[in-house]
Amino acid sequence: MKALILSGGHGTRLRPLTYSQQKQLIPVANKPVLFYAIEDVINAGIHEVGIIVGPNSEQVKKTVLSREWDADIEFIYQGEPKGLAHAILVAGEFLGDDNFVMYLGDNILREGIAEHLEYFKKGNFDASILLQEVPNPRQFGVAELSKDGKTIKRLVEKPEIPPSNLALVGIYFFKPVIHEAVADIKPSWRNELEITDAIQWLIDHGYKVGWTKVTGWWKDTGKPEDILDANRLILDDIRTDIKIMTKARIHGRAVIGEDTEIDGNTVIKGPVVIGKNCRIKNSYIGPYTSIGDNVVIENTEIEDSIILEGSEIRNAGRIVESLIGRGVKIINGTSHPFGRKLVIGDNSKLIL
Ligand code: TTP
Repeated sequence: MKALILSGGHGTRLRPLTYSQQKQLIPVANKPVLFYAIEDVINAGIHEVGIIVGPNSEQVKKTVLSREWDADIEFIYQGEPKGLAHAILVAGEFLGDDNFVMYLGDNILREGIAEHLEYFKKGNFDASILLQEVPNPRQFGVAELSKDGKTIKRLVEKPEIPPSNLALVGIYFFKPVIHEAVADIKPSWRNELEITDAIQWLIDHGYKVGWTKVTGWWKDTGKPEDILDANRLILDDIRTDIKIMTKARIHGRAVIGEDTEIDGNTVIKGPVVIGKNCRIKNSYIGPYTSIGDNVVIENTEIEDSIILEGSEIRNAGRIVESLIGRGVKIINGTSHPFGRKLVIGDNSKLIL
């Protein structure tokens, strides 16, 4: 069994953050989203991992290789993102004749894939997909089940009249027959080789496609609000781990990294994760906040937000539900002329 984790794509819905970084590297609770997928496949006993890379391939390689993994990791260059099925096509050599799990590198699955993998193996399916009940199936790829409910009859993208409320999760198990499917299908209206078309090809050619239901939470971190949501869900599970001495008042669970200084006028209400070498003074850090390494915060209240490394926030009032990139400066200045002085990247969003 191998794993194919997808870390290509343009991530247009996460601009401007994705102008300078691959979206799967955006940290949730101070860990790149991609790492959750790699850890999950390794925990499920898979130790041959291929990672699909695209526009920011060097950045992805460097970040992944900055850590030791209990797996052989190979990077496979996709070039332009031409669809999820296209990723399988370019990974043909790596995948060979092995069964594999394809895992979208921006998806986080709390309960992990181990049980789903077991079901795929035991049921001798040609493919098996993960489904989750959603209140708004019109916005997803949706599955129509066979009469006995055991296999998939049809997959429909964003249906007007959904055949069920079971949406496709970004994790799929395949036998090598999928290579025939991806070689045979044609690009869709958006000029991508769609994985739903490849799975439909299997069904139409009489192959057995099973499914399992996701019962814990699952997050696709494609949009800023999804990343904040994933951050809340992950922080709900953290345990206190404070590596420094501080006179700050800390309530609830907090993780605080080495060499971070937090003064006695600061109040922290967990769950909160703060990285290494930060300087926090006279501030309030409220629940569901993740702060990266080397961040400076002074005279500011921050809650329910993600601040990436190297940012500086001074006298900034109250910041909530925000996703702030690397090396950002938010400073309430005191020099004339007064007013908001902004240097903001393309596609930024400010709600003042
Ligand atoms: P999407 O989120 O559907 O696409 P995207 O990353 O281009 O984002 P946006 O729609 O905001 O522009 O992709 C799902 C996952 O698969 C994501 O982790 C990126 C990855 N991917 C590839 O690696 N190669 C591809 O060809 C495509 C389409 C996606």
